[in-house]
Amino acid sequence: MLVLGLETSCDETGVALYHSERGLLADALFSQIDLHRVYGGVVPELASRDHVKRMLPLIREVLATAGCTADQIDAVAYTAGPGLVGALLVGASCAQAMAFAWGVPALGVHHMEGHLLAPMLEENPPAFPFVALLVSGGHTQLVRVDGIGQYSLLGESLDDAAGEAFDKTAKLMGLDYPGGPEIARLAERGTPGRFVFPRPMTDRPGLEFSFSGLKTFTLNTWQKCRDEGDDSEQTRCDIALAFQHAVVQTLTIKCRRALKQTGLKNLVIAGGVSANSDLRQSLGEMLSEFNGQVFYARPKFCTDNGAMIAYAGCQRLKAGQHDGLGIVVQARWPMDSLPAI
Ligand code: KG4
Ligand code: ZN
Repeated sequence: MLVLGLETSCDETGVALYHSERGLLADALFSQIDLHRVYGGVVPELASRDHVKRMLPLIREVLATAGCTADQIDAVAYTAGPGLVGALLVGASCAQAMAFAWGVPALGVHHMEGHLLAPMLEENPPAFPFVALLVSGGHTQLVRVDGIGQYSLLGESLDDAAGEAFDKTAKLMGLDYPGGPEIARLAERGTPGRFVFPRPMTDRPGLEFSFSGLKTFTLNTWQKCRDEGDDSEQTRCDIALAFQHAVVQTLTIKCRRALKQTGLKNLVIAGGVSANSDLRQSLGEMLSEFNGQVFYARPKFCTDNGAMIAYAGCQRLKAGQHDGLGIVVQARWPMDSLPAI
């Protein structure tokens, strides 16, 4: 089965072709980062309009790369939520229109299920069951995964998502958008131990997260340094390292707890923050305590992309699931409400 996947939930137009037997045939992405950078964050209306511009050229590009023609496509999968409604509607309308014209089924995919299954595109994919840490710009969740659509939420963030904390912290330190890769880049030159930041909510039981206090702590530290006349690049790097270390340690502590609680020994990390190399390393070391392994996608499939949507859609389409003709998207959509396959 050949599935065309479309991703338009936020500021990335992603398109891919996934074949159930041959694997990923082609993927293409247009990132709107430059468009939104001057505003320090995503402007929803600009995002929607840009998705309209990019969608068809990207579809033509993946068809050409894969050496396929539109009449070979068996189904269209698109991100139906959660995300920015206007942006989602672009992908949903394109998908439904093309599927109708080609006489093939369309299926709305849950964006976070796409992220969660992205490591399945790699050579050594994880086997069910496992614990998943979903860390993106909009979500921080620990989930027990027993199969596709068999998700039990173990804990989530009570306020900012991990990626959001990176982005907001970067913004208040005058760094570019998106903040995650910027902070990671500065942290590489940071002095270990110069600043030590708190690890929120690790001193009490439970699997909930809270990152907004850490953001304020970072702001206060940066302001104090500046008041003392130190706004040097090195200090910025040192603060970036302390912030990143606190987030990574907090996530590692909670993942260890989730593995102990579930008795599982394999961990999947997915979403934009799973591209962070310190996080990967810290979790990899922690997993050796469990004789387990940490699984993640290649960096370009950690952040938003069409391949994860084509893959997740393909699994559900193969099981006979598909949508009606209506164009339905959801800004909010709990992942544990998805049907099992
Ligand atoms: O999954 P994603 O592309 O979009 C959402 O579904 O939200 O995640 C984007 C988030 C942004 O907050 C970005 O700053 C963060 O992932 N991110 C990172 C890194 N790369 C992207 N955070 C930390 N370290 C990175 N290397
Ligand atoms: Zn995402």
